[in-house]
Parts: sequence; structure tokens; C-alpha cells
Amino acid sequence: MSDKQTIQWFPGHMTKTKRQIQANLKLVDAVAEIIDARIPVSSRNPDLNNIIQNRPRVILLNKCDMANRTATKMWIDHFEKQGITAVAVDCKSGRGLNKFPAAVNQVLRKKIERLQSKGMKNPMMRIMIVGIPNVGKSSFINRISGQNRAKVEDRPGVTRGNQWFTIGKNLEMLDTPGVLWPKFDDQIVGEHLAFTGAVKDQVMDIELLAMRLLDFLKSLKPAEFIERFKLEDVELEAIPSHELLELIGRKRGMLISGGEIDTERAAIMLLDEFRAAKLGRITVEMPNGELK
Ligand code: G4P
Repeated sequence: MSDKQTIQWFPGHMTKTKRQIQANLKLVDAVAEIIDARIPVSSRNPDLNNIIQNRPRVILLNKCDMANRTATKMWIDHFEKQGITAVAVDCKSGRGLNKFPAAVNQVLRKKIERLQSKGMKNPMMRIMIVGIPNVGKSSFINRISGQNRAKVEDRPGVTRGNQWFTIGKNLEMLDTPGVLWPKFDDQIVGEHLAFTGAVKDQVMDIELLAMRLLDFLKSLKPAEFIERFKLEDVELEAIPSHELLELIGRKRGMLISGGEIDTERAAIMLLDEFRAAKLGRITVEMPNGELK
């Protein structure tokens, strides 16, 4: 195993990104913040609050098809208690997206009513989408616009001519998402982003990452995980994660010459299966829970 144990991350992109988002903010009435329903803490950039100030916002808990249903409901309640409207969506299938226009209209209700009282019958409201890379911004835009639009590169500073498309009767959406970088002050945030594949594997030692994932799975004990790797007879509390990784590799016949287990291959396989939700619909971060 290499000694590359800490996640390195892009420094200093935030200023440029911030400027870009602020410029587009002037054009919109509301912001749709897209986050990953499996890691609602780590997939948010806390700087967004500063950037958008009091701009009305809807949170989209995306990839809810891979998250635990009860946990997603708890997150929606949690945001609601903070006065933030949140909607669970699956931008791969489009499930839940029909709730989006009503949610935006709800957060913009006062503004819409004010304009209507001034005689505007059906005022057009504009929205922009923001989120960290890989969270599903392009999928959302493609799904909700009903067309296949070109993917906007996840690079701060990439600008395009703004285009708008219509959703429902009175909403227009900017087709260029605001790309936020995740905030890496905390090693655990980095690990959770890496578990879900939001950051590239090259930034962290893959076997170490797999062992951290196993630490988590050992305490959660999802049925699919136990079944898939036939761990029914394994005392998960007692087995160190490096031994569990070897065991999983052995069970999958991942051997290298000399009969040793190819733990790197086992690590890649474990992470791939977790990211594809084959180990269960797993939410890593719970509301009010400690990051662990
Ligand atoms: P981005 O613009 O924010 O960077 O994200 P993008 O839409 O490109 O989505 C990143 C990956 O996440 C894509 O997978 C996409 O299909 C997947 N994805 C987005 N939303 C959902 C969702 O709600 N559920 C699930 N299960 N997956 C979602 P990919 O492997 O990069 O590409 P592909 O599988 O679409 O070919």
C-alpha cells in the first residue's frame, strides 16, 4: 500500500467560481442546490450560503434511488425545519422531478403574489442550478429540459452563452450550472466524497479508502452487503478491516501469484459495487449525526 493517505484537493478555484456564480445570480430569482442524497453534508459547499445570501433556494436530494428511503425522508424534514424546501429526485430515471416546479413556486410565492398584485398575470421566474461536480447537474438539466443538452465541463471559469429553457408555465432555467467545489476542511468529508465517487480515486489510496468504507459498513451491516459477500458467519465487529478486505478478495477469487490476495482489485471492486448501490441503498450521513 502506498503512503498516500490524505486526500489532496484543488486549491484556490473558489474565487473564480464564486465570481461566475455571482454574475449568474443577478439573472435569477431562485437557486436550486443539487446535493447527493447519500452524503447531504459532504456534497454541500458551505460557502454557497455566503455566495447566494438570502436568495430563495430549493434543495434537490439527487440520486435518491441509491439512498436509504427513510434517511431521505429524515433529511427532507431536517431541511424543512430550517425553513428550506427540499425535494428527493432521481435524475437518472426522472423520478421526483415533477415536484420541482411546485417547490420553486412555493419558495417564490411571495414574489409571485407581489408581481401579480401589480397586474402581472403570470410572472416568469428564473432559476439556476448549482452543485459540486458529479452530483447530477447535467442529468437534471437534461431531464427537466426534456432534451439532450451538451454536458458543461466541470471546470471553473468555463463560460458559455447563457441559454434559458422553460419548465411548466412560469419557470425558466439557466442551462449553465454553477459548479461548486466541495469543501475539504475535514478528512471525513473527503472520504465520503470518495466513497460515492464524487472525487477521483487518484486523490486517495484506494485500499485505505476501501478499508474506511468497510469500517462504516461493519457498523451499519447492510443486508445486501452481507449477502453479496457471504459474510453471515463473520463477526463483523471483531474483524479488522484489512482482514475483511482480504476475505472479500478471497471470496471473489482475486488472487495474485503465490496465492496472495489482490487487495487492490478487491478494493476497486468493493468501491464500484458500493457506488452502484449493489451493497444496498445506503445513506452515509444522517441528519444531526456526527460525521464518522
Ligand atoms: P454533473 O453534471 O453534476 O457533473 O453530474 P452528471 O449529471 O454528469 O452525473 C454524474 C453521474 O451521476 C452520471 O453517471 C449520471 O448518470 C449519474 N447520476 C446523476 N443523477 C443520478 C441519479 O439520480 N441516480 C443515479 N443512480 N445516478 C445519477 P456516469 O456514470 O458518469 O455516467 P452515465 O452512467 O450516465 O453514463
